[in-house]
Amino acid sequence: MAKSICLFNHKGGVSKTTTAFNLGWSLADMGKKTLIVDLDSQCNLTGIVLGFEAVGDDKLDAFYKSRDNLTMKPIVEALIDGTAPRTFMETDKGKLLSTKHNNLFLLPGYINVADLDAQISVSLKIASGIPATRNIPGNLPKILQEIAAANKIDYMLYDLSPNVGGLNEVALMSSDYFIVPTSPDYFCLQAVGSLEKNIMKWHREIERFREDNQFDPASFPIKNRPKFIGAIQQRYRPRNERPAKSFREWIDLIRENIDSKLVPSLESIGCVIPRAKLEQALKGTNLKPYDLEQVPDFNSLIAISQKLSKPIFALTDEDIGQVGNIQETMTENRDKFAALFKELAQRVVVLTSH
Ligand SMILES: Nc1ncnc2c1ncn2[C@@H]1O[C@H](COP(=O)(O)OP(=O)(O)OP(=O)(O)O)[C@@H](O)[C@H]1O
Ligand SMILES: [Mg+2]
Repeated sequence: MAKSICLFNHKGGVSKTTTAFNLGWSLADMGKKTLIVDLDSQCNLTGIVLGFEAVGDDKLDAFYKSRDNLTMKPIVEALIDGTAPRTFMETDKGKLLSTKHNNLFLLPGYINVADLDAQISVSLKIASGIPATRNIPGNLPKILQEIAAANKIDYMLYDLSPNVGGLNEVALMSSDYFIVPTSPDYFCLQAVGSLEKNIMKWHREIERFREDNQFDPASFPIKNRPKFIGAIQQRYRPRNERPAKSFREWIDLIRENIDSKLVPSLESIGCVIPRAKLEQALKGTNLKPYDLEQVPDFNSLIAISQKLSKPIFALTDEDIGQVGNIQETMTENRDKFAALFKELAQRVVVLTSH
């Protein structure tokens, strides 16, 4: 079965989407067949893969109409119509969209994916009284798992919006693992507390929903046990190969808060990987649990990367296209990012193995 990993933080703009794409590519580099799933109505992940010109409203619409690719659109429609996942798989002949990496595939987003929010929230709250909607929450992960199985996917990465609606609740609580991208500032520190409260609330809500509807926890697709594998601190300015002092202070504070507030709560509901396992995986680095990686600012490489629908570390010298010192600095940075993302992907594989 494909391993599913959510990239989630309800703080916006912390690199959830960028990390889904980069980590997906790096896992694909390791020979893992990877599916990145765009569950955000902003469709940024879809934009990265298709190229930004393709994502103007009209053009995205044309993409849905003219291509026989599988997208979130028919999935959302099937879920709302109450189509069974099996029936959906038998009738939808859409293929997974390829990317520039032959092991990496995209399930493109849908601007109205948030329609699911209201539907799922209603069914989670009152479903025991309305049999027609009680299957919607479980059918979302079921369809995604069936798609993964039909395509022999090893890893599915879910790119979520920063909302705390029903869609994200089900995506997160049904996934096997989750990663919290974060950036070194006060707002992200604030977000740790509310992230903890939300996950605890979601856990209780799913537990009650399963009981009220007498779903068998062993076979129900929302396992309610997503395991936190760590935070990725992003976008700091480096100095001497480590975060500059002002960023380091925020990084340390956020880590301490995750450690003292989020992790103990997650432990109480079985939603975190063991600390010793992470410590083992971080051996020989400057990182401490529950940091999974630290990613400095991409600077000007990001602009080229977005234009070419490739991660910064996959850019060739030709793609970078500068001369002299600028080229030298940029290719050097590219190589550092390549090593960093390779290490991150290897760590993720180790941490998600039993
Ligand atoms: N390490 C980085 N260095 C520089 N820029 C970055 C880095 N990571 C992400 N960015 C940029 O920061 C912006 C926000 O990133 P991204 O869209 O991935 O965040 P997000 O968490 O998915 O946002 P949202 O909450 O809106 O979905 C983008 O313009 C992206 O290119
Ligand atoms: Mg995003």
